[in-house]
Amino acid sequence: MKMKFSKFFSMVVVLSMVVGSVSVFAGGARASSGKTKIGVSMPTQSLQRWNQDGANMKSQLEAAGYQVDLQYANNEVPTQVSQIENMITGGAKVLVIAAIDGFSLTEVLKEAKAKNIPVIAYDRLIMNSDAVNYYASFDNFRVGTFQGTYIETKLNLKTAAGPFNIELVTGDSADNNVNFFFNGALSILKPYIDSGKVKVLSGQTTLAQAATLNWSTEESQKRFENIITSVGYGPSGVKLDAVLCSNDSTANGVTNALVNAGYTRANFPILTGQDCDKPSVKNMNAGIQAMSVFKDTRTLAGKVVEMVNALAKGDAPPVNDTQTYNNGTGIIPSFLCDPIVVEPKDIQAALIDSGYYTLADIQ
Ligand code: GAL
Repeated sequence: MKMKFSKFFSMVVVLSMVVGSVSVFAGGARASSGKTKIGVSMPTQSLQRWNQDGANMKSQLEAAGYQVDLQYANNEVPTQVSQIENMITGGAKVLVIAAIDGFSLTEVLKEAKAKNIPVIAYDRLIMNSDAVNYYASFDNFRVGTFQGTYIETKLNLKTAAGPFNIELVTGDSADNNVNFFFNGALSILKPYIDSGKVKVLSGQTTLAQAATLNWSTEESQKRFENIITSVGYGPSGVKLDAVLCSNDSTANGVTNALVNAGYTRANFPILTGQDCDKPSVKNMNAGIQAMSVFKDTRTLAGKVVEMVNALAKGDAPPVNDTQTYNNGTGIIPSFLCDPIVVEPKDIQAALIDSGYYTLADIQ
């Protein structure tokens, strides 16, 4: 980590000395508007959060005086690679990237490194690339522990006799975050699974078995319908106490499957989520999702803009974690924002009073 950070930092310093200015952008051409261009590559518009992330990044960067090239890649890796290539050849001075597949950007980012274009991994760590300079996300392990602890508390696992039946659902295994979400939750739940107090009757307990391609609602619904059928879960069948879901888009698929199987708010299993997407907030209000984890995308965007500004001035960007996120080439200095648990009782304060949603958004 130290080597990587200090290598990059000394590059900043050397550049500053050479051009007699403190800007890492000083060596390159500016956009025709005269403004410094920032490339922002987002994975998809099909999930709500990335639309918010992209919009927040664009407005906050523009307010700070940059020109923004914002692209969405429709969850297609070749599209994301070619969009990043275009950003590099189009004169972007910093790249901010939320990867579709964390392992697929090694080649294209060699070009960024060759041109001394700093790369900030946005929310998802980019793996196996020494071109990545910084990472900004939320504390993803903590997200998982929130979900695991929620189930532990609601089922009273510490003292109740059990056994309880739960199932496990996580996201796309090409997303490095999944390791943190899943392992964070399992750090709480695994002791109970090992002791037999908690049973996973499908037998699907590994990350690979619990994974959901592209975090897709449809995929998670399909898998969960199969689990319901094969185990025989149902309001008048085998009791299902809780479903650990790593995020809202997968939770929505599980909810659909459970509703189709006859569950109502009166007997709904405890279901976790993450993102506070609008459909999930509505489901929480309707009593068919117990909790979600709120990650304010405005805060993350704000932190990344601070990073970009610091790079522009030749300062060291803000980081608060220099131990956790190794992308295969070394530790990437990170800033991890704080996630918070949201239950129905918290919706007003966390999501409405904070201005994140209007009441109409979630009714
Ligand atoms: C993760 C992200 C989550 C969730 C998921 C699906 O990388 O951290 O907030 O949105 O992707 O998009």
